[in-house]
Amino acid sequence: MSTPDHVIQRTASVEQRVDAIQAALDERGMKATEAVEELQHLAEEQWIPQNGARVVARAWVDPAFKARLLANGRDAVAELGLSMPKHHRHLVVLENTSAVQNVICCTLCSCTAFTIIGLPPDWYKDLEYRSRVVRESRTVLREMGLDLAPEVEIKVWDTTADTRYMVLPEQPPETIGWSEEKLASIVSRDAMIGVARL
Ligand SMILES: [Fe+2]
Repeated sequence: MSTPDHVIQRTASVEQRVDAIQAALDERGMKATEAVEELQHLAEEQWIPQNGARVVARAWVDPAFKARLLANGRDAVAELGLSMPKHHRHLVVLENTSAVQNVICCTLCSCTAFTIIGLPPDWYKDLEYRSRVVRESRTVLREMGLDLAPEVEIKVWDTTADTRYMVLPEQPPETIGWSEEKLASIVSRDAMIGVARL
């Protein structure tokens, strides 16, 4: 069904509506523009998957750190100078092995441990992914390019407001002995969500 012309004319674009709200808040001294710029800076410069990649690389080279990470993710990432918002009370780190593929989602909305693994990609927020990854995970993973052998067990973890997850991908055997920095460079956001292997 197409939208009648008069509706199109009367509905401002998302950008126009955002600008109007921002201007209204600014006029009342609420500094919306500053807040938006600050958030944008955080999203683009600080809440990035490279944080999680550093965590993964450290876990691969340092078994004692890995043990601490699996026991208490929040405390362990703090050792690398990474922090999480107060309401992210737990960071549960899920270790992938050749026999187990952990996958994370948020069936309600779009929650991730965003200060560690980055903000969620658009597909993660889609109703398609959120509903289907739970019911037919193997098919969804295959559609996303991850064709797992039938004997690999898939575990899907549903994020909540206070419990955030991060997948610890399995280290590719050919990378044993690499420097931490080089290891971090191969760790992708998708691998930390669990929809890809490295
Ligand atoms: Fe959510």
